[in-house]
Amino acid sequence: MFQTLLDALLNDNKLDEKLGLTGKQKRLVQNTWAIVRKDEVSVGVALVLAFFKQYPESKKEFKSFKDVPLDELPKNKRFQAHCINIVATLGKVIEQMHDPELMEATLINFTEKHKARGQTPEQFENLKQVILEAFPSLFGKHYTSDVQEAWKKTLDLIFSRICQVYTD
Ligand code: HEM
Repeated sequence: MFQTLLDALLNDNKLDEKLGLTGKQKRLVQNTWAIVRKDEVSVGVALVLAFFKQYPESKKEFKSFKDVPLDELPKNKRFQAHCINIVATLGKVIEQMHDPELMEATLINFTEKHKARGQTPEQFENLKQVILEAFPSLFGKHYTSDVQEAWKKTLDLIFSRICQVYTD
C-alpha cells in the first residue's frame, strides 16, 4: 500500500523528457479527457460548431455538409461523424501519452491525410485556439490552474507536431 502510494508520487514528479510533461500532468489530462469521452458527440459538435462560427471558411473544406446551414449541422449525421472523428482521434493521442513514439505516429498519420487533402497548418492552429477557449466551460470546476497548464502544454505539443508535418 505504502509502496504503491510512493510509486504514484514518484511517477507524478517524474518528467517525461520526450513530452516535457510530468506524470501528474499526464494524469490530469487523461482524467479530464475522461469527462469528454462520456459524451463524445455533444462535445465534438460543440467544438466543431464553435470552430465553424469563428472560421467560416473552414466549413467549405467539407464536401458532405459545406452547404448545410450552421443551425442545421448539429443533427446532420455526416457532421456528427466528423466531430466524433476529431474527438476520438484526439482521445487516442492522449491515451498514447505513455508511448510518445506511438503518439507521434498517430499524429503523423492523420495529419498527412489532411495535408494531402489541402487542409492547412493555420486551420489546425485555429482549431487549437477554439479547443482551449472551450475547455473552461467544458471542464467546469475540474479546470484548475494545474489542469489548465497541463492541457496548454499538451495541446502545444500535439499541434506543434502537427505543424511540423507540413514542413517535413
Ligand atoms: C486535431 C485535429 C483534427 C483531428 C484529430 C482530425 C481527424 C480527422 C479524421 C480521423 C478524419 C477521417 C480520416 C481522414 O480522412 O483523414 C478527418 C477527416 C477530415 N478532416 Fe479532420 N481532424 C482534425 C482537424 C481538422 C481541421 C483543422 C480541418 C480543417 C478544416 C479538418 C478537415 C477535415 C476534412 C475536410 C476531412 C474529410 C472529411 C470527409 O470525409 O469528407 N480536420 N479528420
